[in-house]
Amino acid sequence: MDVSRGLENLPVTVWPRLEEPPGFQYSPDHVAAAECGPDPSEISFQGCSCQSASCLASMCSCLPYAENYKNSCINYEGNELEYSKPIFECNVMCQCGESCQNRVVQRGLQFRLEVFKTAKKGWGLRTLDFIPKGRFVCEYAGEILNFREACRRVQLQSANDSNYIIAIREHLCDGQIMETFVDPTHTGNVGRFLNHSCEPNLIMVPVRIDSMVPKLALFADRDICAEELSYDYSGRHRNSFPALQREQEKPQGEKLKKKPCYCGAKLCTGFLPYDGSLFCEQETTGCPKETL
Ligand SMILES: C[S@@+](CC[C@H](N)C(=O)[O-])C[C@H]1O[C@@H](n2cnc3c(N)ncnc32)[C@H](O)[C@@H]1O
Ligand SMILES: [Zn+2]
Ligand SMILES: [Zn+2]
Ligand SMILES: [Zn+2]
Repeated sequence: MDVSRGLENLPVTVWPRLEEPPGFQYSPDHVAAAECGPDPSEISFQGCSCQSASCLASMCSCLPYAENYKNSCINYEGNELEYSKPIFECNVMCQCGESCQNRVVQRGLQFRLEVFKTAKKGWGLRTLDFIPKGRFVCEYAGEILNFREACRRVQLQSANDSNYIIAIREHLCDGQIMETFVDPTHTGNVGRFLNHSCEPNLIMVPVRIDSMVPKLALFADRDICAEELSYDYSGRHRNSFPALQREQEKPQGEKLKKKPCYCGAKLCTGFLPYDGSLFCEQETTGCPKETL
């Protein structure tokens, strides 16, 4: 069985072969939620006018800081600063060719992935191939919500439900905060099977291609050899990415009982992180209104 139903570059297999993860609509890309939210398919950027086969930082308007990728691996150069530099890939409007080195996430899956049944965490995702550090692994794609709709959906969940809704806050250099809410519960891609780990092997990075709505791209944070793939749901793991920050964890009543973490890491904190700001009950004070 191919979980992606032929919609990815490579089939995504399932183990055990005779079982099937609960149904959802597969979409390799973000989709706009019917009720609300920005449209991720809207083209927001002008392209570069580079005539070369591959764009270079010194000449290309898509690369105002440094090369985003080197040999298809994410380039952390320049990201030791307080704010990580945003990543813009060359897009459909750019004059450069398809082989431009600034096109990585848009090329899709490059490694064989498998959805598998874990002992204690429900379904998980693993790689069947060796993945070198820095390489793109997959996106976390789903419905793009606004803040209100994300709160509404989170509050409909019961304590035992798996939570798929993610909130990404990017601290922009002009002091503004850009928030993106993604929900792959009903429509999403293979990223929805990624479990949390307190010592993860992936790092999530917002990457923009055609739209201002970022793709949530997962890159290998170390060499990965045929093992379960995971990232830190709190976004805390990598200090060099302060742009990805979530609300401080704050207990807000009984409904927010923390779930035990079964990541098995030596330094496991014992509980899954959660984003308290989405449990806003009726109160909206301090919450962004229709920000998106
Ligand atoms: C995005 S889903 C991940 C896929 C999910 N395991 C499934 O079966 O579809 C997030 C949910 O998986 C479970 N989960 C993820 N990481 C976990 C961990 N380290 N320990 C325990 N449960 C985990 C929790 O129920 C969480 O709400
Ligand atoms: Zn280019
Ligand atoms: Zn260019
Ligand atoms: Zn843990």
